[in-house]
Amino acid sequence: MMDEVNEFDFENRIVSTEYDGNQDYEVENSLRPKALVDYIGQEKAKSNLKIYIESAKKRGEALDHVLLYGPPGLGKTTLAGIIAAEMGVNIRTTSGPAIEKQGDLAAILTNLGEGDVLFIDEVHRLSKAIEEILYPAMEDYSLDIIIGKGPSARSIRLPIPKFTLIGATTRAGQLTTPLRDRFGVLLKLELYTPEELSSIVKRSAGILGIEITDEGALGIATRSRGTPRIANRLLKRVRDFALVKGDGTITSEIAKYALEALEIDELGLDNTDRRMLEAIIKFYGGGPVGLDTLSATIGEEAITIEDVYEPYLMQIGFLARTPRGRCATKLAYDHLGIPFINGVNV
Ligand code: ADE
Repeated sequence: MMDEVNEFDFENRIVSTEYDGNQDYEVENSLRPKALVDYIGQEKAKSNLKIYIESAKKRGEALDHVLLYGPPGLGKTTLAGIIAAEMGVNIRTTSGPAIEKQGDLAAILTNLGEGDVLFIDEVHRLSKAIEEILYPAMEDYSLDIIIGKGPSARSIRLPIPKFTLIGATTRAGQLTTPLRDRFGVLLKLELYTPEELSSIVKRSAGILGIEITDEGALGIATRSRGTPRIANRLLKRVRDFALVKGDGTITSEIAKYALEALEIDELGLDNTDRRMLEAIIKFYGGGPVGLDTLSATIGEEAITIEDVYEPYLMQIGFLARTPRGRCATKLAYDHLGIPFINGVNV
């Protein structure tokens, strides 16, 4: 059977924050900055990180374990690579769901070099059994291994190299307390401003050999939901329109034309965002509506709504999370052209 393409399918959204295939991954990799000076934005995280890296290097020790958290597509993997490069160590990359057996993690840990970085993406999805191996590894740089079975079973402690665990998660709140407490450095990544995204778009255009004007870059930036991964993807799509409909240069007119064709509005909202806001307004009087109800209404997983849609809608002031549920704000009504009278739709 053919895969059905449905309007709410997260994977098919041009503004999805997921990778969309290997090819995209490779291009994205070529766009990743390799040094902290080339990493645009996240000034707070960056300036603290600089100090921690310099201090660890002065002491000749491994950097403390780092937890990077924030919405998808903001550059957590990129930052992990930069940290390893700045420390002058190797990086080994894996993800929470990929580590199935305790032995898998034990093998990874014993094969690390002194000071190396182990990057675990989606670290909140590690199983309990794997987490238990990680605790002594993070704390004492040792592995507790059980040898044998039954009454003759005994535990031995193996030393492992002093390493830095960098964990990345979209949901710091889902980390177990013992795991979270073992990270010495917690860095929250924020959505980017249009100016920062514009610089990222211009840098990426330079690497990919795409001609772009300042206004063209800003046009893409303002529609990228504060997210570099989306900005870089839109850059490539708008480039297609520039080549076919223009002279190859991305101007603000071409950017506007292309993004309209992709059904992304001036604020970066696509059909799914609009349907979600409309559902809150038309079916639930503007809210509050519970997350699970909203999820059932628009046919999106609650977790996707929370991690992917809401951060941006909240940042632009279209959505409020209250203890009783989600509410659409007056700004959302105005944007959708729905009259707002005393907080109720008419
Ligand atoms: N590409 C993706 N994220 C970036 C960032 N923060 N700075 C520069 N280029 C990027």
